Amino acid sequence: MSSKPSHSIKSEINPGDLAARGKAFFYKGQKRQAQMTFAEAVILAPDNAEYKAMLVQSLSGRQIFPQYDENIKRAIILCLEEDNIFHLPLFFSWHSLLLLDPATKILSDLQDCPDYETFLDILESHDISDTLNDNFLHQGLNKLLMKDYNFERLLTHLRRYALLEASPDQLQEMAPFLAALSAQCFFNEYIFYVTKEEQERINTISSSPNVPDPVNIIILSCYQPLYGMDKTEDLAHILKQSRISSAEGLIQIQITEPIEEAQIKKNIESFGSIADNTSKAVQEQYEENPFPRWSSCGGQREDNKKKLSAGKKVLVAGCGTGQQAVITSMNFPEADIIAIDLSKASLAYAQRKTKEYGLTNLTFMHGDILEVGDIGIEFDHIACGGVLHHMKSPKDGFQALKNILKKDGVMRIGVYSESARKNIVAVQNWIINQKIPSTLKGIRNFRKEFVEGGYKEIFGDTLPYFDNFSVSETRDLFFHVQEHRFTCLGLKELLNDMEMDLLIFAPEAYAVHQRFPQLFPDDPKALNLENWHIIEQKNPGLFIGMYKFYICHEGQHEPGTTPKWLEM
Ligand SMILES: C[S@@+](CC[C@H](N)C(=O)[O-])C[C@H]1O[C@@H](n2cnc3c(N)ncnc32)[C@H](O)[C@@H]1O
Repeated sequence: MSSKPSHSIKSEINPGDLAARGKAFFYKGQKRQAQMTFAEAVILAPDNAEYKAMLVQSLSGRQIFPQYDENIKRAIILCLEEDNIFHLPLFFSWHSLLLLDPATKILSDLQDCPDYETFLDILESHDISDTLNDNFLHQGLNKLLMKDYNFERLLTHLRRYALLEASPDQLQEMAPFLAALSAQCFFNEYIFYVTKEEQERINTISSSPNVPDPVNIIILSCYQPLYGMDKTEDLAHILKQSRISSAEGLIQIQITEPIEEAQIKKNIESFGSIADNTSKAVQEQYEENPFPRWSSCGGQREDNKKKLSAGKKVLVAGCGTGQQAVITSMNFPEADIIAIDLSKASLAYAQRKTKEYGLTNLTFMHGDILEVGDIGIEFDHIACGGVLHHMKSPKDGFQALKNILKKDGVMRIGVYSESARKNIVAVQNWIINQKIPSTLKGIRNFRKEFVEGGYKEIFGDTLPYFDNFSVSETRDLFFHVQEHRFTCLGLKELLNDMEMDLLIFAPEAYAVHQRFPQLFPDDPKALNLENWHIIEQKNPGLFIGMYKFYICHEGQHEPGTTPKWLEM
């Protein structure tokens, strides 16, 4: 796809001005104008990652386009080709445009097929080979997580068709699509439902003494990772020899990178011991399913702010697969960053990504937050998001982190809200009642049963939206071995007990912050958690993205601010 400006965009327009105009639209809540304006900026300045990040931000959320928009599509393609931005929020826009695009519109009919037989009927009367070789479709499958049940059903039908029905000629034509589908299946950790017939066929192929041909290797890789299979080296060799485009990419994702992670795992330094039983159970979960899977991200600090972090010590506690640590490292390139986690598999993923981005100020260590004092360093800043609620006693975790926070240091915390997770807890209880195990098979069966009707027992006719489109995501959301949830009032008490000051609460809730002085004139900085409790009671889902807040030792900083070098 060419990245030259289209005729509809006048070349004398300055992309910087367009980006500034886009921002103004965005902050006024005029999303569509913001998207169109950012898209023009991206097309005019295709090397500028910042404009792309702005476009991604404006396209985040469940965007459904009313009609096809060529400019937005071109800009999304440029975003998907960019390594220094976060791609995943683009899914809904990408999917919506894919179904509206005249080149791929047939996918809209196909994804509405209720069952495989209807799908086969449509396929009989339509040639979809050009559609399946569409670049926009491949880019999305390669870079995004498919977060739509209907589209997921279509992909499972196409996979099943390739395995059981397609002729050798058809398979040759489908090979590049299947390679992209395989990347998606690997990324979602093979969450798609597999029928008995498909599983039998896969078992036959993989147990055959003959090494499969390239297309069959690709089909196999849509059902199970190539890494760990018998004769992996032979499979890689055959794929390399084939002239199938994207075979190299498949080898990289499914063989080279897992081998690299296994190697990294052996050399990760540990501190303390992991003695607590809950920590052990949590460790086991994330060793099996490191979370979250991510492919790209980017930092965007201005140069003058970057320098302010020189020599600062930063800890990312419970870094998982490292996305937050990598962003922190990009944003504070002059700081020394240590990121810790219980799961070596997660740390290995994180370290591989760190190397990919060429970052040198970030060290990963294996261990329990409860023993973090053993590292022997005090930190200026500690970031701990989505972790403390998975400890037996979040307060003990808090205390361990407080003990290593410098006197004037600042912590950024993210923990679950009881009120926002009400629907999630209902599903968790349903799973417990059904005695569904947290295995791959259990998770696949749960999604099939629950999404295809089980939800009605809890939610009536409408299934609420949940992020459960990869195995690690579903396990983290619904099958976690340990989960606490907080309330605003409970947090207030906890911070009092811990003798810590709240500096900023819910920084991302811009709109609520703006209303605070008017709603609570004696709390213009929005720091009284009793007031947030009142707001949350009226908007129970407000903190579905967690309670996020900055805290410090008592009396160390002016409430309502964080140190200059930390300002986002
Ligand atoms: C939901 S993931 C969040 C990962 C990361 N903070 C993020 O936001 O992407 C939770 C992570 O916390 C880690 N974790 C949980 N309890 C921990 C503990 N006691 N010590 C260290 N890491 C812990 C888990 O291993 C897991 O990788």
